[in-house]
Amino acid sequence: MLEVPTVPSAPVTPQPPAEAVAPLMRGLDVLRRLTEADGTLALADLARATGLARSTVDRICATLAHLGFVRLDGRDAALAPPLMAVADACLDALRVPGPLGPLADRLADELDESVSLAVPDGTDIRFVHQVLRRRALSISFRVGDALPMHGCAPGLVFRDGLPLAVDDQLVEPGLVAVAVPVRGPDGSVVCAVSVVSHTSRHAAGELAEAVREPLEACVRSMESVLGTYASGLRPGPRASIADGADIGRVPIVSLARGLHVLTAFDAARPALTLTEIAEATGLARATARRALITYEHLGYVTRDDRAYRLTPRVLALGCAPLSRTTLPRIAGPHLAALSERLGESVGLSVPDGDHVRCTARVTPRRVMSVDIGVGSRLPAADTAAGLLLRDGGERAAADGPEAGLRSVAVPVRDRAGRMVSALDVTAHQGRGDDGAWAAALTESAQRIAADLHVTSRFVSVPAH
Ligand code: PHB
Repeated sequence: MLEVPTVPSAPVTPQPPAEAVAPLMRGLDVLRRLTEADGTLALADLARATGLARSTVDRICATLAHLGFVRLDGRDAALAPPLMAVADACLDALRVPGPLGPLADRLADELDESVSLAVPDGTDIRFVHQVLRRRALSISFRVGDALPMHGCAPGLVFRDGLPLAVDDQLVEPGLVAVAVPVRGPDGSVVCAVSVVSHTSRHAAGELAEAVREPLEACVRSMESVLGTYASGLRPGPRASIADGADIGRVPIVSLARGLHVLTAFDAARPALTLTEIAEATGLARATARRALITYEHLGYVTRDDRAYRLTPRVLALGCAPLSRTTLPRIAGPHLAALSERLGESVGLSVPDGDHVRCTARVTPRRVMSVDIGVGSRLPAADTAAGLLLRDGGERAAADGPEAGLRSVAVPVRDRAGRMVSALDVTAHQGRGDDGAWAAALTESAQRIAADLHVTSRFVSVPAH
């Protein structure tokens, strides 16, 4: 008999439905590529990676920049903190890191090991909470990162329905992990909690034994919290994306409108009907419907009868690169803009005993310039930032840190309203007016705080 050679067929990407919104699909592709590139790509590389025309990439990025989701810096596009609102909506609606994150943190403290929470995401698992303990660990995943289901402990828990799975260096030589399921009130597995260690501390088999009791107690607390969490939720005002951005004026309106749909979801509203989404976003029903068809096709949304839900894949839109950051990195672009605006040296400081330490500084180039290096320590009494961090308040001014210098500082506050840092301008005396400086500083401090707040909703952001 004649053998007909068969060519293995390449995996086919299903054709998008006719009603899918092509500009939204392209914009999502750009965000996903930027995320995979750890947050930054040259526009030309973005065009190559997506196969889109350079002019299309430019228009997409201009739209994303208008929404504050991307920063354009010369030839590069970089993901920007406001995009974290999309990941926040997803993390909130998952109802996992919100209620269970603090319990994972406690377990990490108790065991002095890293602990993570992961959820299933198609053929992957995705991390939704990470507590990093041992800095020497050669690998660490971020919130939003995915691993193939078959290659990690939480994946084995989900895939094989195991009560406990061990990762004996599946992911990385030296890395060992134990994962167990956490069940919701209806008995279904909601997430897996993993304890992650290193073979220098524990062999894989021994890790399970060493952590069993605290881990089991933690899962019991988690399941008990899940039993009551949902009933305590009250829908509050929605955190809208693109606050202040006029969606009607961006180059690609359908992309901006489509992205808006994602932030209709939150913990109190994890499943929404089309009507509810249209109401929440102010979009026409037909517009919201086509965006949802697009998301469903791409796996960012699932539909169960009439209710739509976000999938963890939404975290592939920026979460991992944006989630591991620090306050000085968040503040960087704002410091540059402020320094440019005032023409003076501006910086960020944190308390350090009875001193303050400079953690970021942008100084304009000129003949005579203020020279305070990042990392330098100054007595708190000698600078406006020091006085403010020591004494509290909304504003401080000081002559110093050297004769002939003047500094003015305002606070940068975290989500809980605590002063985590002080933003200052420091210049030669007589060059500026305290009041005008304070006003400009306050505006910048509010922008920095807004970026800090959206970033730190589900991840911890170090102040330095
Ligand atoms: C992690 O949280 O880094 C982790 C968890 C489970 C694994 C591997 C890594 O199997």
